[in-house]
Amino acid sequence: MAEQNRESSLVLIKPDALKNSLTGYILSQFSEFHTGLRFAALKVVAVNLALAEEHYAEHKGKFFYPALLDYIRGYLHYPDDPSKRRVIAILYRGPNAIKNIREICGNTNPHEARQQKPGCIRALGTVIPLYDEKGKFIGDRSDNLIHASANLQDAEREIKLWFLPTDIPPIVRSFPTEISKEYFYYKNNTISSAYTKESFCFIAPGDIVWKSDMKVLRQLEKGKKQDYSTNAVIAKYLINKEEENI
Ligand code: PPS
Repeated sequence: MAEQNRESSLVLIKPDALKNSLTGYILSQFSEFHTGLRFAALKVVAVNLALAEEHYAEHKGKFFYPALLDYIRGYLHYPDDPSKRRVIAILYRGPNAIKNIREICGNTNPHEARQQKPGCIRALGTVIPLYDEKGKFIGDRSDNLIHASANLQDAEREIKLWFLPTDIPPIVRSFPTEISKEYFYYKNNTISSAYTKESFCFIAPGDIVWKSDMKVLRQLEKGKKQDYSTNAVIAKYLINKEEENI
């Protein structure tokens, strides 16, 4: 099948799946033999706050949003062991990748997943009650082991949020890139084209950058309205940096 007919999807193996030793099981469920999908990229990620906030940006303000951030960052399943707080991020490519993967995952809510499709991955998840500061029940949190992109638009946004272009082999890199001619530095939530003490260079001339990120950086430089947030650009460059950079 021609490369352009293939879809890309982001899968996150979340901290509860890691804690329950389900990584091998999940990878086997998505194997090329069973699904026709291929790995295009994979990395182990200590999820910084900017990345968590951007990944779940559409849920900001919902009752489960704060718990969602703590969950994906590993604080809920590894409160006492920071070295275990991580997620495995995988880019899959192949025919109907988004639908194929979501069918294997099952319903977002593990209770419903168990009822609707026994045997799906999320049937192995749990539902945890959430309470406010006064101890009043406010709703459930779904610990559903795995995230999978919901549609083509989300997949593009999520893949460009979690991966640098150079994390992905060029032949399967499906979104436009460009080569930077400029330097960009980052320090304390601020991006600058000039070095300041203790800032770090995250883009240098010659680096391959997502075209849409470069556009946002230019919009930022010119004080124009940005296509998306600065956080969404920088988050991927902060992945697995030292804590003080986050
Ligand atoms: S999905 O599966 O992505 O289509 O679901 P969606 O509704 O778009 O995303 C919701 C994400 O928030 C997590 N979450 C909850 N959703 C709804 N209700 C409750 N109570 C809730 N608690 C947590 C849900 O697991 C989705 O995250 P991901 O990582 O996609 O599973």
